[in-house]
Amino acid sequence: MSFPIVVLISGSGSNLQALIDQSLQGQLNINICAVISNKADAYGLERAKNAGIPTHALDHKQFESREAFDTELQQMIDYYQPKLVVLAGFMRILTEGFTKHYDGKMLNIHPSLLPKYKGLNTHQRAIEANEKEHGVSVHFVSSELDAGAVIVQASTDIEASDDADSLAKKVHSLEHIIYPLAVKWFSENKLTFHNGTAILNGSTLPPTGILYNKDIE
Ligand code: GAR
Repeated sequence: MSFPIVVLISGSGSNLQALIDQSLQGQLNINICAVISNKADAYGLERAKNAGIPTHALDHKQFESREAFDTELQQMIDYYQPKLVVLAGFMRILTEGFTKHYDGKMLNIHPSLLPKYKGLNTHQRAIEANEKEHGVSVHFVSSELDAGAVIVQASTDIEASDDADSLAKKVHSLEHIIYPLAVKWFSENKLTFHNGTAILNGSTLPPTGILYNKDIE
């Protein structure tokens, strides 16, 4: 039986596409039950429709409070009874009640080597700070923005010729490797969450998770 997940997006959905592709290729035994976007024009909704996945647009601007939006979103997600909620470029600050409801069952991907560069414009900020390397993190979601136990990170060198766009491209290609990998681990019960920490194959992971290399499976 394939593993039920719901994916939340706000934009292009290239990470969603990586999950769709890997599940079609048989590398991931997941069932993407629904894709929900807070933006009706998110291109990721087209990607989902093309793959025959049910979609919903839930416009946060139609709600009078963050709590009201999150309550409706939670009901929409829970209708599908997913075992995992995957935030794939879902650009919303979440209420504590929402994050608690999915404690240990919700993943996020963030384009930086956390705890560095939480928030927006991470590529530009890493270049301006003269960082030698930059990357991406997959983590369990906690009530704090871009925090929560990190599972896996992947890094890339920042070259003198890099600008924010070229760096974003390099990081994106790493995202499409490590996000499906973390989802795979969770769906196979190799990855769990206990007392605020991520556990992979029975070992408690360090605060920055494990660093991806090609030998990891
Ligand atoms: C990705 O780069 C992801 O890391 C980032 O949004 C992008 C979505 O791309 N997420 C965050 O910044 C979360 N704080 P996609 O829509 O093509 O998957």
